Amino acid sequence: MSHYINEAGINEGVPSMKTVLVTGGAGYIGSHACKALAAAGYTPVAYDNLVHGHRQAVQWGPLEQGDITDRARLDIVITQWQPVAVMHFAAYAYVGESVSNPGKYYRNNVAGSLTLLEAMRDHGIDKLVFSSTCATYGTPRSLPLAEDHPQFPINPYGASKLMIERMLSDFDAAHALRSASLRYFNAAGADPDGDIGEMHDPETHLIPLVLDAACGQRADVTVFGTDYETRDGTCIRDYIHVSDLADAHVLALQALENGAGTNAYNLGNGRGFSVREVIDCASKVTGRPVPVAFGERRAGDPPVLVGDASRIRRELGWQPRHDAIESIIGSAWRWHQAFGSRAGQDA
Ligand SMILES: NC(=O)c1ccc[n+]([C@@H]2O[C@H](COP(=O)([O-])OP(=O)(O)OC[C@H]3O[C@@H](n4cnc5c(N)ncnc54)[C@H](O)[C@@H]3O)[C@@H](O)[C@H]2O)c1
Repeated sequence: MSHYINEAGINEGVPSMKTVLVTGGAGYIGSHACKALAAAGYTPVAYDNLVHGHRQAVQWGPLEQGDITDRARLDIVITQWQPVAVMHFAAYAYVGESVSNPGKYYRNNVAGSLTLLEAMRDHGIDKLVFSSTCATYGTPRSLPLAEDHPQFPINPYGASKLMIERMLSDFDAAHALRSASLRYFNAAGADPDGDIGEMHDPETHLIPLVLDAACGQRADVTVFGTDYETRDGTCIRDYIHVSDLADAHVLALQALENGAGTNAYNLGNGRGFSVREVIDCASKVTGRPVPVAFGERRAGDPPVLVGDASRIRRELGWQPRHDAIESIIGSAWRWHQAFGSRAGQDA
């Protein structure tokens, strides 16, 4: 654990030659990526406006408070830290909100990413690892979803991410800015050492909601739709441990450093678990009953979303270390017990 906290922004850890700018580095996945970067010998500089991030999640490098839509601030931070690459997590990621307020998503995700890419171009940074999503595929036509599945997103959130993938390909063609778009399925779990974990506010992800219900922090968890054509009638999703995701980012960065071209990779475990199965597993892991309420299907929820991640396994040698659903839920539960009540307490 190379804890690093310094208000002056001076590296107090083991000095590293290579700095990586991590936008959204105070968020859930970005903070786990910072830990993985530090373990691999990089200095992660978290660049986050803290709108949904948490100051205490930034432990492996400095925190630079700033917004990706703020070009002047990006210029100052890039000039100061001279990053060799960028990992780009900063975004809004609530599907429902993107439907009711699409402008918020296009401004932050698309215009913000464009500002970042132009800053990278002008500062000569030519490598980027991007948080994309399985939401760029839209409703599956075949399963498991492979990278060549057509991309027809069905909500503005997914559309905003697809537009960024498109910009990345154009910036490569015009400016030789190479990138890896990592299309995650459902990120879940927490750092196995208990240093960081999931603290979204509001929380919309199934596993933390189930754990909240298991320990009485909410009355129940709502199951949206029990009449899908799946083995038990509830939706099936592919859960990937956040530390496995973080490892994949480091592999993608190293591949870019070794000259890899622009590419896209799915990140999932290739196995689906239904909402009921997740609830049953959480009940076993916690040793507590999980109170459940039943609701209608939500518009735009496909019955099954499962990804084929064989490309990243084959090309980058990615191997998930925490792919058992018990281990994903177990790590989330340990985090929840230790720190869950702190969720949302700071910006
Ligand atoms: N969590 C998942 O299951 C999942 C799945 C697919 C894709 N993703 C993508 O992964 C990324 C990280 O997701 P997360 O779950 O860690 O979310 P998160 O909200 O915890 O992290 C996002 C971070 O970005 C910051 N941010 C947002 N807008 C910003 C801006 N304009 N300038 C600077 N910082 C800004 C927030 O403060 C937050 O710390 C997102 O891009 C999301 O779309 C997440």
